[in-house]
Amino acid sequence: MMPRCRVNLSTMIFLVILQGAAVVLFCGWYVQLSPCGSPPSNGGKVHVLLLSSWRSGSSFVGQVFSQHPSVFYLMEPAWHVWTKLQKHGARALRMAVRDLLRSVFQCDMSVMEAYMPEQINMSFLFMWSHSRALCSPPACPLTPRNQFSNQTQCFKACDAQGLQGAKDACGSYSHVVLKEVRFFELESLYPLLQDPNIDLRIIHLVRDPRAVVRSKEASANAFVYDNSVVLEQRNVPAAEVQYQAMQEICRSHVRIHERAILKAPPFLKGRYKMVRYEDVARNPLDEINAMYEFVGLEMTEQLQEWIFKVTHGKGKGSKKDAFEISSRNAADVSQAWRTALPHSKVKRIQEVCKGAMSLLGYRTVNSEKEQKRLDIDLLVPREPYQFSWLPAKTEHPDNA
Ligand SMILES: *[C@@H]1O[C@H](CO)[C@@H](O)[C@H](O)[C@H]1NC(C)=O
Ligand SMILES: *[C@@H]1O[C@H](CO)[C@@H](O)[C@H](O)[C@H]1NC(C)=O
Repeated sequence: MMPRCRVNLSTMIFLVILQGAAVVLFCGWYVQLSPCGSPPSNGGKVHVLLLSSWRSGSSFVGQVFSQHPSVFYLMEPAWHVWTKLQKHGARALRMAVRDLLRSVFQCDMSVMEAYMPEQINMSFLFMWSHSRALCSPPACPLTPRNQFSNQTQCFKACDAQGLQGAKDACGSYSHVVLKEVRFFELESLYPLLQDPNIDLRIIHLVRDPRAVVRSKEASANAFVYDNSVVLEQRNVPAAEVQYQAMQEICRSHVRIHERAILKAPPFLKGRYKMVRYEDVARNPLDEINAMYEFVGLEMTEQLQEWIFKVTHGKGKGSKKDAFEISSRNAADVSQAWRTALPHSKVKRIQEVCKGAMSLLGYRTVNSEKEQKRLDIDLLVPREPYQFSWLPAKTEHPDNA
């Protein structure tokens, strides 16, 4: 026989209220602890910061996201901040850059107005035609959303007045991916990591500093202003600029990586992934798969074919082409510094970047002979990628 329930009405009401209070308290605690474990208040949108540095393969990796049918991608929105306010240093600009990113992640393009002339066109956005989403509906009728865009054609066909098209496009994708080379630390991003409207994942793309220097030398003039901002407008002798700028960049790699791996605050756990350009060049499909997985994007057959195609090109693409690496010449490209740079220069870069190189797994060379012997592999293998994206989902406590 069932025991008879003897609870009277007021006890019942009290218990219901008590349970309600417990749920509210527990949820508040839960939301604080796991910024996206709870049903996201942003409709499930994922925000990806592709955080890299100059000449580190981020254009290619950016394209890998830009061409994905679920992604709204923009290249270097902070370029506008640095260009407009180029008399300042990186430190003074970083909050403006952070806040610009926050707005763009939320598809608020009005933030761009501060850095542009009064009458804005979509084509004023830095490298806008590299964004497949700006060449597709609703921004532009040119490229169906599930097809690959051609930036030359997009450039000709998709300009428009105002940024409404960009805003509408941004709002219609599950993923917003922004590429930036203008972050030197993670701390300024903490408010974004704790913002319940933003589900942020950071992909930190790094490259062997010796290869970076060589690649920057090929177009040194392009970096004059950026170097000044990186060096906080300090008066640095011309011969020293590239080393000191590289030193700042290497230091930032260490700072960022240590912050994310060794001293990560709870809201940063599982939201950071470091990727080496050289690993992508050697093994594009696996590395890209892992990046997609990290941000919750699906690999499609169409994308696989495209990745294979662009990484197995004939290598005859123009220099401006986004796809600088092809697996055929990947080894040559990432090794080119070994024959092109004098050993004295290599030694100097190794000095200023010692800590970063050891942390990221780039072996130093101790002699010119060792430098030129291409059969000596200078890349320390990384542990196989482990999927550790987010902590296992806990049951929502409502039904506890
Ligand atoms: C992009 O379009 C231009 C002009 O139509 C064409 O010459 C070029 O080959 C195309 N590029 C690719 C990668 O298809
Ligand atoms: C802005 O875009 C419109 C529409 O494509 C075009 O007619 C106009 O010339 C553009 N203005 C500028 C300043 O590029």
